[in-house]
Amino acid sequence: MSLSHPVLSVSGLSKAFTIHQQGKRIPSAQDATFAVHAGRLTALVGPSGAGKSTVLKCIYRTYLPQAGSIILHGDPPLDLATCDEHAALRARARDIAYVTQFLHCLPRQPTVDVVAAPLTAIGVPLPQAREAARIRLRELDLPERLWDVAPATFSGGERQRVNLARGLVHRPRLLMLDEPTASLDRRSADLVVAAIRAAKQAGVAILAIFHDPALVAALADDVVELSRPAEAACAA
Ligand SMILES: Nc1ncnc2c1ncn2[C@@H]1O[C@H](COP(=O)(O)OP(=O)(O)OP(=O)(O)O)[C@@H](O)[C@H]1O
Ligand SMILES: [Mg+2]
Repeated sequence: MSLSHPVLSVSGLSKAFTIHQQGKRIPSAQDATFAVHAGRLTALVGPSGAGKSTVLKCIYRTYLPQAGSIILHGDPPLDLATCDEHAALRARARDIAYVTQFLHCLPRQPTVDVVAAPLTAIGVPLPQAREAARIRLRELDLPERLWDVAPATFSGGERQRVNLARGLVHRPRLLMLDEPTASLDRRSADLVVAAIRAAKQAGVAILAIFHDPALVAALADDVVELSRPAEAACAA
């Protein structure tokens, strides 16, 4: 994969939140600039409150930034900071997987279907999507007896592995991970690391937040440091 062809280029991204009742402005990400390349992992690091999760949410279009561009390269390229909702939703479904720390899913949906959902959403027939889901669940060592049960009652670590299996099921062009090993024991964390390495090898561009510096050292090809916004920027 050529370094000169990033999958995602973020430039000058800034986001602040306004709490209207109090007339307060809370700065979050400030002037974030970086790229994410196919087959490489970019780690977002920085202190708590620096805006790392906010940057991922801006890329996923959960939040709209005040400034900056978020170019998802392709033909044609798409600026996720300014494109219309329809284009953003299409890009999400086709190209982006976002693994948050928390799994949100329908209460009675069996795990295998939760994991298969990104594939069925782009038109893959259900039997094929389920087969791909089982492969990912096996890779992450989620016990087979849980596959037909809804993840609502799973432990934190089990849920996190379901979440990750779902993020990896369709080998997206861009995979975003927000602390994917936060509640895992050593063995499960090792499986997650192996799955991330396999995704990299398959050419997925990965943007990840890890609290553990050892994981950054083990997995990151590029490291981007965000600093906590200066107090001066708090003035409305
Ligand atoms: N929806 C929101 N409304 C108001 N403020 C928000 C919102 N989301 C985030 N913030 C604020 O933005 C700042 C950055 O939050 P963010 O969650 O991006 O930090 P982080 O770098 O991911 O921190 P951590 O390492 O603790 O997860 C914080 O001060 C937070 O309170
Ligand atoms: Mg965070």
